[in-house]
Amino acid sequence: MKTIIERIDAEQMNRETIEKAGRILRDGGLVAFPTETVYGLGADALNEQAAGKIYAAKGRPSDNPLIVHVADMESLTRITGTIPEKAGMIAREFWPGPLTMIFRKTRAVPFGTTGGLDTVAVRMPDHAIAREIIRAGGGFIAAPSANTSGRPSPTTAQHVEEDLAGKIDMVVDGGAVEIGVESTILDMTVEPPMILRPGAVTREMLESLVGKVSVDKTLIEPDSRKAPKAPGMKYRHYAPKADLTILEGDLSRVVEEINRLAAEKTAKGYKVGIIGTSETAGSYSIGNFKCIGTRQDETSVAGNLYGILRDFDSDGTDYIYSESFSTCGIGSAIMNRLQKAAGHRIIHVDK
Ligand code: TXA
Ligand code: MG
Repeated sequence: MKTIIERIDAEQMNRETIEKAGRILRDGGLVAFPTETVYGLGADALNEQAAGKIYAAKGRPSDNPLIVHVADMESLTRITGTIPEKAGMIAREFWPGPLTMIFRKTRAVPFGTTGGLDTVAVRMPDHAIAREIIRAGGGFIAAPSANTSGRPSPTTAQHVEEDLAGKIDMVVDGGAVEIGVESTILDMTVEPPMILRPGAVTREMLESLVGKVSVDKTLIEPDSRKAPKAPGMKYRHYAPKADLTILEGDLSRVVEEINRLAAEKTAKGYKVGIIGTSETAGSYSIGNFKCIGTRQDETSVAGNLYGILRDFDSDGTDYIYSESFSTCGIGSAIMNRLQKAAGHRIIHVDK
């Protein structure tokens, strides 16, 4: 299959590109497009066969449900029935935005889209190109991250091409995304609502609006016997090819220990990568250092995380050592993805 790749500028929305993407989606094809979190791989969510193609292109396990993307509140009731009051309050505050909510589904949503579940995950993205494509494609677009299953999510159209060129109909290139980690997932079918995946909309933000919000325990204390409630969270997602280890504790001790480990592996002939910050940029004496952002503003760290993991893959890196981050705000999403990428290999250094 030849993949059409078209660049588009959100400021001067090119109607022809949007119409072409919309036509492909309405005809049951696959179109990758930017959202504010990561690039999504879209298909008509109400067409079981179209949704099925997503699983084939990504190599995604068929029990892993898809998020249905909508562009307006009116669309919501067709796929979810009545909306609980709290969900309405949350939607008014955080939609469009980096938040997915889970509801009971109506018959309009095929089980092929929800991985056999009787619930449906819905998100209204805050990205002009995404919203235009959703509308042009019929209003209900299933879109997982546009990566091959198991690889880091794509934050640029080039990442999408690396993984999916030749396997999908079209990539709409709208430049680099803004946030860089996937949406927060909030299960509204339970009381209190439960966070199944941390993202840019944080627990604190949700609680200040609707009171108590719980967090899926498997996110906090990984336990191989308990399955996470979001089926996708059980897979070793976001994984670089290299062995990634996170070092936490006093920052100057972390730097010292990373230098020691990097020297040890380099001496054995391995290629070593280091993930640090602008605060520590001058402190590493060996290995391939990449600056992930600044500790003054952790949104910069979220924005660079997946791109850096991909860069280390293409460099053929064997071992990656990373500094760790706070778990406040967007930090909880960063650490969740970083820990999964590391297969939970964490070293705590003491003073
Ligand atoms: O930011 C995002 O959410 C991006 C962009 C493209 O919108 N999409 C995304 O989709 O991250 P995906 O498929 O990579 O991740 C969806 C996650 C999976 O872990 C899946 O198991 C979970 O959402 N999920 C979807 N429907 C669910 C449901 N009904 N119940 C529980 N978990 C669900
Ligand atoms: Mg994904």
